[in-house]
Amino acid sequence: MAPLGKEHLDQIMEIETASFEHPWPRGLFLGEMAIPQARDQVALLEPSNLVLAFFCFWLTAGQAQVQNLAVHPAFRRRGIARWLLLNCLAQARDQGAHSAVLEVRAGNLAAKALYEKLGFEAREVRPGYYREEGEDALVMFRSLEGLTGQRGEKS
Ligand SMILES: CC(C)(COP(=O)(O)OP(=O)(O)OC[C@H]1O[C@@H](n2cnc3c(N)ncnc32)[C@H](O)[C@@H]1OP(=O)(O)O)[C@@H](O)C(=O)NCCC(=O)NCCS
Repeated sequence: MAPLGKEHLDQIMEIETASFEHPWPRGLFLGEMAIPQARDQVALLEPSNLVLAFFCFWLTAGQAQVQNLAVHPAFRRRGIARWLLLNCLAQARDQGAHSAVLEVRAGNLAAKALYEKLGFEAREVRPGYYREEGEDALVMFRSLEGLTGQRGEKS
């Protein structure tokens, strides 16, 4: 795991465009990197430094706020998202966060299953939040007290 930097951007844009119908443009990632509360991280395959996944989140007002997450399509279902999130959330907790919050498309079953497995609970539905498709957003929350999973653990 390493802080997301400009040197990762080309690979991140490939993962982003392969992962989302409405991908973040490059400028949004650049802007994200300049935000003081951003704690964005990448998972790297060593020694090649291939970017396997990225996780963008903010640490603000004692809360980890998830902004973006994607895993390289060729490396999914290997526990990478779970490993990256657990490490980042543990880091956020160590830096004073007491909870984590995110929004997910109601129809994104893979992401919902991942978040539920990691102890997030849907607390609110925002009807038609994603305007292009009129899709609902679920707001999911978890306390970071009693967070399990240790640094370096991959399962
Ligand atoms: C969602 C995503 C990040 C999951 O990444 P991943 O590395 O494949 O997830 P993991 O291997 O860590 O999976 C952990 C658990 O999440 C759940 N899960 C992950 N992908 C799943 C899928 N396609 N279908 C059902 N459950 C899934 C499972 O419970 C899984 O545990 P298991 O493999 O032991 O059954 C990945 O599919 C992705 O990048 N999707 C496109 C981008 C996206 O939707 N981002 C989230 C935006 S909110």
